[in-house]
Amino acid sequence: MSNEDKSFLQTQISRRDVLKIAGIGSAGVLLGASGLTGVLTAVGANPFADDDPTAVNKVNFYGKHQSGILTKNPQHVYFVSLNCTAKSKQELKEMFQLWTQYSVKLMNGQLVEPNSANLLLPTADTGESEGLDASNLTLTYGVGPSLFEKPELGLQSKKPAELKDLPHFPKDQLDPEYVGGDICIQACADDPQVAFHAVRNLIRAARGKVTMRWSQVGFNSYQKKGKKTMTPRNLFAFKDGTGNPNVDNSKDMNDVVWVQPGDSKGWLTGGSYLAVRRIQMHIETWDRTSLQGQEDTFGRHRDSGAPIGKTGEFEDMEIDRKENGKPVVPVNSHVALAKQVKDRILRRSFSYSDGIHSKTGTFDAGLLFMSFQKNPSQFINIQNSFGRVDKLNEYITHRGSALFACFPGVKKGSFLGAELFK
Ligand code: HEM
Repeated sequence: MSNEDKSFLQTQISRRDVLKIAGIGSAGVLLGASGLTGVLTAVGANPFADDDPTAVNKVNFYGKHQSGILTKNPQHVYFVSLNCTAKSKQELKEMFQLWTQYSVKLMNGQLVEPNSANLLLPTADTGESEGLDASNLTLTYGVGPSLFEKPELGLQSKKPAELKDLPHFPKDQLDPEYVGGDICIQACADDPQVAFHAVRNLIRAARGKVTMRWSQVGFNSYQKKGKKTMTPRNLFAFKDGTGNPNVDNSKDMNDVVWVQPGDSKGWLTGGSYLAVRRIQMHIETWDRTSLQGQEDTFGRHRDSGAPIGKTGEFEDMEIDRKENGKPVVPVNSHVALAKQVKDRILRRSFSYSDGIHSKTGTFDAGLLFMSFQKNPSQFINIQNSFGRVDKLNEYITHRGSALFACFPGVKKGSFLGAELFK
């Protein structure tokens, strides 16, 4: 064990934990790094926080891939993009080591640290998730292109060639307040307060190493039919996610989502690229549009989600089918244009509603579009196919944009992004 790792270990294990692990109940024990390792080895304990199989409504932290990518039916998201202010690679590494430990505990529904009874100190955990269960919290971490441009971090040689800002697309009207970021955290949970609590405590613990750049909360609502969970509807009332690849099909996921060995820099194998777009939806204009016009916009029926001319949500859309010489599905509809390219992506978007635009008196609402893909080009090719042609352009404006490379999953005993810091 290196000295760095020893000191990390020391800071991660509370004194109470050490005493508990060693079976020592009395105070007054002082341990150096070697003494601490000795105690832990002697009792055969794993010093790292571990997934708690008894936790209620829990998603596991450890695994081949990060949580929050294939995890189904996310209800609430707190997404935050961060600036990195760490002064060295070592500082950044320590932050991810601490976040690893905290993430395991948060996803167990536990406090990040036990609180002391000292009324004169701030509490170790901010406390607003007290009494709530894990709420299927998932935490997904990614790093943006700008992180690799910081000379003080010395990560330039680790930058994958494809990790660069998304290009300007026709009709983009980006607001600098919602663009880019060095690091991102996507916290999804069934309870919005659990998601918020997670992000708040992670950022609190990383003070001096990150500052907040932009954030967005979002939601999804799911109709249930018996035990079946239906595709959620976006704020235009259309089912959103129908055409997604099947997350239970591991071959598809390897083809679409997970970076494979040799695809990119080694540290990203098993990871994925996250494209984030904050897309304003002009719902007042939409609400003045006929149902026919709305269905022609997507190429699907609103209520059933079926392709135009069909009845089942998951029936094949035949974009070349014609009736009386006219295409059944409009060629400029959103889905027909997405199907023009062979690239696929895994969409995992959320609606947002952020009050009103003070200048126009209209709703500030839309879609926090998020897609995972093993190469950003998959997203870029689809967005370029929409170009200026997509009928949906009349009703939306892209306001925010960012791209992140999301780490692979974490093995027990290791930490987020470990391969990046080797
Ligand atoms: C506010 C913006 C958007 C809205 C409201 C929206 C809505 C929808 C809806 C209702 C569908 C049909 C049902 C489904 O398959 O999910 C759909 C399909 C799709 N959308 Fe979007 N979308 C938006 C933006 C985007 C963006 C930015 C992309 C990627 C660049 C994208 C890519 C796709 C793809 C790949 C499909 C599936 C096509 C297929 O069936 O093969 N969408 N979208």
